[in-house]
Amino acid sequence: MTNQNRDFHNVYWIENVCVVQFNVPEKTLNSFSENSLKELGLILDEIFAKPALAGLVFASSKKDCFAAGVDVSIFSTLKTQAEGEKASKSLQELFARFESAKVPTVAAIHGVCLGGGLELSLAMKHRVCSTHKSTQMGLPEVKLGLLPGGGGTQRLPRLIGIAPALDLILTGKQIDAKKALRLGLVDDAVPENVYLERAIEYANGKVAAQKEKAKLKKQSFMASVEQKMSGLDIAKFALESNTFGRSFIEKKSQEMILKNTKGFYPAPKKALEAVISGMGKSLKSGLALEARLFGELVASPECASLVHIFEIMTAAKKNPFSAEAQQHARQFCTEPLKKGRGSVGIVGAGLMGSGVATVLADRGIRCTLLDRNSEGVQKGVAAVGSYFQDRLRRKRIKKFELLSALSKVTPTLSYESLRSSPLVIEAVFEDLSMKHKVIQNLEAVNAQSNADFIFATNTSSIPVEHIAAGSVRPQNVVGMHFFSPVTKMPLVEIVLGPKTSEIAGSAAFDLSAAMGKNTIVVKDGPGFFTTRILAFYLAEALLILSEGASIEDVDAALETFGMPVGPITLLDEVGLDVGSHIMETIKNPFKDRLICAPEITAILEEKRLGRKNGFGFYSYAEGKKVGPDESIYKHFKHGSSRKNLDKSDIVDRCLLVFINESARCLEEGIVSSEDSGDLGAVFGLGYPPFLGGPFFHARQFGKAATLEKLRKMAEKYGARFSPAKWWSEG
Ligand code: NAI
Repeated sequence: MTNQNRDFHNVYWIENVCVVQFNVPEKTLNSFSENSLKELGLILDEIFAKPALAGLVFASSKKDCFAAGVDVSIFSTLKTQAEGEKASKSLQELFARFESAKVPTVAAIHGVCLGGGLELSLAMKHRVCSTHKSTQMGLPEVKLGLLPGGGGTQRLPRLIGIAPALDLILTGKQIDAKKALRLGLVDDAVPENVYLERAIEYANGKVAAQKEKAKLKKQSFMASVEQKMSGLDIAKFALESNTFGRSFIEKKSQEMILKNTKGFYPAPKKALEAVISGMGKSLKSGLALEARLFGELVASPECASLVHIFEIMTAAKKNPFSAEAQQHARQFCTEPLKKGRGSVGIVGAGLMGSGVATVLADRGIRCTLLDRNSEGVQKGVAAVGSYFQDRLRRKRIKKFELLSALSKVTPTLSYESLRSSPLVIEAVFEDLSMKHKVIQNLEAVNAQSNADFIFATNTSSIPVEHIAAGSVRPQNVVGMHFFSPVTKMPLVEIVLGPKTSEIAGSAAFDLSAAMGKNTIVVKDGPGFFTTRILAFYLAEALLILSEGASIEDVDAALETFGMPVGPITLLDEVGLDVGSHIMETIKNPFKDRLICAPEITAILEEKRLGRKNGFGFYSYAEGKKVGPDESIYKHFKHGSSRKNLDKSDIVDRCLLVFINESARCLEEGIVSSEDSGDLGAVFGLGYPPFLGGPFFHARQFGKAATLEKLRKMAEKYGARFSPAKWWSEG
């Protein structure tokens, strides 16, 4: 058996217990491919045919990974409801073989145990896990627009109760060993060095016997009744064991789903249906329902979009620079930083600089934070502190973790402290001469030691080429464009100027990855990719206001389309001063087509900055948005009598200008691929994930149909809608 197996290369016996170890070759994580599922079936045939078999343990020999689920690439091969339903049924049947085995079956879990991996373990008689921090369990299928189709929606609520199961299934959240034990998801949680041994004890019946003995000895009849009727059990009983209780949970869950998905994502709704309806049926009928609903979801456009995003996210993890550059960058920059030798320099401790410092500290990477005066530094350090204090308050971290994170940030007013930082991130005001001054200061302190360092600018719109012009080593200057708030936004845009070296690009890429961000690498140009397409989108929204639409209509139209916030709200959030600064940089290079609403000058003269001073397109009370500030209409030619413009036209204009400009970026090589553009738009600008990004969305909608639409819009509204060449390509 051993030599023929690929993914289960290690099948061995300890007395009469068989241990099967999962380990997909050449992969860092175990996932179930079609091959491994087939292989597992054949292995089970052989094992279950052994008359001496006393128990079966399913484990993994992959480092810190039990099983991360079913290989995601399988989902894109399932095109119809029927194909999806069939795939779900065959997975259910395979897993059910563990459940119906005549001997105890045990999952020995260490490391990641997600999706299909957890579903497989749910079909076992017992689950034993290690208490190691890498052990994390969850059912993340809803994040791919699916529901657990290997029995998870039926077995999990039967094992731990409906409400806790829904908490895992509807959110896709992961839990550690301690929580899994508390919920009853695992029978035992023991240290890493004994979990396999313990699982074998369960398989050969030793633990069950021990437990039974201990139970009989310790528990009197009354104690056992008391335990059964404890507060938790009574509440659970009242809620879950009758139709009224279940409909109460269903109603509350529906409200939560609507709040979180705004109706754009069908998966949580169907997962809820599978759990609630399934609990009123036999396991067999529940599983049939799960398979049918899985099939419906796998054929949905939302699932296709979310699987696309997962796949491009995974592909984007690969450093795109040459092996030689990667090695050099790692050696002198990222490896020492990750090992705590040296620190990342940050110049400018404002909103962005302090955000970068927070994420670095959170990841255990040291940084030195400099500002022009002590007030600036103090504000920056306070911002870092309040982030970790908040996490401590929410019990997300322990006190020692807070102290450890804070110790990673060294405040300074002196450039001397940045000497020999291998990489310095600049986040001062968006002003070219100021950025040049920062470079010169850094080069001056490093000149004595002749140390080389990478200068990563967080500029949001100034071409890297212009910033590099102020450096004696322009090859070391690279753009590292973070998004606000840095702690939450999952994207970094690495910008390569014409002289940026591969080493600088690679170092910035690796640091971004070490900070846990998705990374796209783009070519230099005004506004690079994300700022440029955002500028066109916001300018269009302002033009529509200028033509007479109301603030709330423009925002509502785009929110109904699926944007997280409307464009006018977004302008207030970014700050009208910042927005107009960006527009100044972008306006000239694209003067053939970018039109800025003329009213913005008067609006800025009135010192309307947006949320930051509580005075923008909206009014604010105690930091909260109240409603549109109608007094702003005095700057518009239609005054306060606003027109009722067609909502679908508002969406088409904002959206198509966004997508068309994205396609131009692709043509010009600003973004290297459609996938890179999709990743940037979804994670940097909030393009709805259920649409998969502008390029994926355009392809789904149909390029020819969009081309036709763009032509008509170009005639009506102008050159910004003139179709990019991409629309006519295959
Ligand atoms: P901010 O105004 O919050 O912070 C700038 C900080 O730089 C201030 O603390 C200021 O005291 C400090 N500073 C100014 N001159 C300095 C000097 N010569 N030496 C040391 N420190 C100096 O600005 P924010 O929003 O953090 O922006 C910083 C950079 O990040 C800008 O280039 C901006 O375009 C870019 N950016 C901003 C985003 C945003 O959403 N705010 C998003 C992405 C990039």
